[in-house]
This record gives sequence, C-alpha cells and structure tokens, in this order.
Amino acid sequence: MKKRDLLSWKELSRKDIEGLLSLARKLKRELKRGVSHRRLAGKTLALVFEKPSLRTRVSFETGMMQLGGHTVFLGPDEIRLGVRESVADCARVLSRWVDLIVVRTFSQATLEEMASHATAPIINGLTDLYHPCQVLADCLTLLEHKGKLDGLKIAFIGDGNNMAHSWMEAAEKLPLTVVAACPKGYEPNADVVRAVKANGGRVVVTRDVAEAARGADVLYTDVWASMGQESEAESRRRVFQGYQINRDVLALAKKDAVVMHCLPAHRGEEITDEALEGPQSVVFDQAENRLHAQKAIMLWLVKGFKG
Ligand code: CP
Ligand code: NVA
Repeated sequence: MKKRDLLSWKELSRKDIEGLLSLARKLKRELKRGVSHRRLAGKTLALVFEKPSLRTRVSFETGMMQLGGHTVFLGPDEIRLGVRESVADCARVLSRWVDLIVVRTFSQATLEEMASHATAPIINGLTDLYHPCQVLADCLTLLEHKGKLDGLKIAFIGDGNNMAHSWMEAAEKLPLTVVAACPKGYEPNADVVRAVKANGGRVVVTRDVAEAARGADVLYTDVWASMGQESEAESRRRVFQGYQINRDVLALAKKDAVVMHCLPAHRGEEITDEALEGPQSVVFDQAENRLHAQKAIMLWLVKGFKG
C-alpha cells in the first residue's frame, strides 16, 4: 500500500471523509460501550511539536494508547527541526522506528518536506496554514448536533487563519458554505480562497460580521493572535474589535445555531464568556471529538479502512 499523509484536506476525497467520519462515530460508540481495540498494538506514534498544545497532544496520546499502541512526544527543545538536524534527516531517522508521525510546526513547507522524506505517514497537527484534524473533529460534532453537514452555513468570524483555511478546504469537499468575516488585512490566504473557489467550493470573504452571521447554522471563531503571533497580540486586539461572537451576533444566526471554537479561547476577545458557556456552545464536544476523529485517522493511515 502506498504511504498516505494527512497534510491538509487536499489529500482527502469525499469518500475518505465519509469513511473517516463513520469510523470515528463507530469508535466513539464502542468506547462508550467499553469495547476496546488493540488494532495498533506494537505500533509507535511520534509527536513532533514545535508549538504548545493541550488538545492535540493529549487526544493523540490517549487515542494511540486506546488502540494498543505507544507514543513518543518530542517538544520544541528536543529535535529542534532544521536547527540541530535537517528536516529531511529527522524524517528519515524517525521513520526507521515509528509507524506514524504527527507534526505541529510553523510553515506548511516544513511539514511537506517531512512528508516527502518520511516513509511513515505524516499527520498535520497544526501549521500556520492548516489544522485538518480539528476540522474533521468539528464535522463529527456537527453530525452529532445537526444530523448532517450538507447545506450548512458556517460563519467564521475573526482571523483568516489556519482554522479558516481548513474550513474553506472542507467547503471544497463537502456541500456546505463558509462565510468568513475578517478585518481588512487579516483575510484568509488569497491562494487558498482562489483554489477552493476554482474547485467549486462555496466560500465568501467579507468584512461584515452580520453578513456572515445572518441565517448561519454555525458560528465559529478562533483566537485573534495565533501561536507565533504573540508580539502582534496588542495591535490585533485593536484591529479585531467587533469580530466577536456575542449575544448580538448570536441573535442574527438561526435559532438552533451552534457556537464553535477550536480552543484555547480568549474570553472577552473573539468570544464572550456568555456565548462560550451558553446552551448553544458545543466547544467541549469539539474537544472530545478530537480523540475519536484522530483514532480514525491513525487507523486509516496505518491499516486503511479495511485493516
Ligand atoms: N484546538 C487545538 O488544537 O488545541 P491545542 O493547541 O491545545 O492542541
Ligand atoms: N489559530 C490557532 C489555533 C489553535 C488551535 C493557532 O494557530 O494558535
């Protein structure tokens, strides 16, 4: 079987997405019933992280343990990708020992370089450009809360960042619409938007929060300053005023709209405490579903859907 990677949603066909979501739902049901799998027994997952993490690290480590495998965590001070050793050498050396590698890094190019040299499958655990595992978990969450993905309007409010890009890629593969409301200069990457639109994805970029929120099924937001942009936090706080999920924005969405955030959240900035803690918020389901979605991803990459 040719090695597969998950670097973005580009690698996924509609059939793959449906397969992953159905496997994730099955694994979740079985876990709740106490059915355990050891389908990755004897396998090792390496986590190569150049940025901090709570959800991604713990959900991958726990997921691998539940599947009978083992994890090695390598933080920013350990490998020092491209500094202590070249990216290509790290990828080749790690592949001699481990069966899967999750990489959390800055540039998508570093991730792609890892993937081109590794013989083990590479999973994007977040780059500055994409966060594909989060969006898969979010789709699982939406299936649970909305019963479908088709036809949903997702309002993405705030920074045109990695989360916005992965949602846009999802709109290319699934019949849903993403309307991103972002301040001038902080829109999603133009190449990403162009490519998604060229492939028939329904995405809109606006400055108008109300346009995005009106009639939306999902109100989604993320931090105004992502990891690596800490020095811009103060200036971004000024620029992003108004790009917030709050009571007024919720009132524009459908009555049964859900509020989503990949977390960590900055309450009082991109979302109010009231919206995050309110009855429409599904943020902790999203966090839980990282576990189930990523177990499906790991099984698929190592064993395929039939393994
Ligand atoms: N949502 C998410 O990826 O969280 P962490 O940065 O804590 O992994
Ligand atoms: N956009 C955020 C997502 C964190 C999960 C970041 O990159 O820091």
